[in-house]
Amino acid sequence: MAVERTLSIIKPDAVAKNVVGQIYARFEAAGLKVVAAKMKHLSRAEAEGFYAVHRERPFFKDLVDFMVSGPVMIQVLEGESAVLKNRELMGATDPKKADKGTIRADFADSIDANAVHGSDSAENAAIEVAYFFPSSEVYSR
Ligand code: PPS
Repeated sequence: MAVERTLSIIKPDAVAKNVVGQIYARFEAAGLKVVAAKMKHLSRAEAEGFYAVHRERPFFKDLVDFMVSGPVMIQVLEGESAVLKNRELMGATDPKKADKGTIRADFADSIDANAVHGSDSAENAAIEVAYFFPSSEVYSR
């Protein structure tokens, strides 16, 4: 297994619920290290750029509206199979379909307000990490 990095975002709903620490505890318990982090209120341009791949999808405007509705917590997680491990911790996109004990099952209310984002491949993780963090702000250990 390779040590990877993945980009994680704790979305406005979960930040507003004050569960950032509980979500970080799950990353740490799974062996993922936080090697970069920042809290940020995304501009519309930043959110549209981040989700550009979904621009043609019917929910694009709703997704962007939600992501700029409040501050988010953005972090780079590092560890063995970090991309898959984080996706497993998150659970399915729709919290109603997410396995018991996953972040979305426990903290998300709906498919539009689903608590967390995680990169879906190592290739996209590299692009997403670079979108928010210059390499000088990633403290690999
Ligand atoms: S994925 O990871 O690309 O396979 O997920 P996908 O289901 O295609 O969804 C992509 C992102 O869009 C969000 N999403 C929605 N937002 C608002 N409304 C609706 N109906 C909706 N459906 C999906 C979903 O949470 C994904 O966001 P991220 O931040 O990548 O998790």
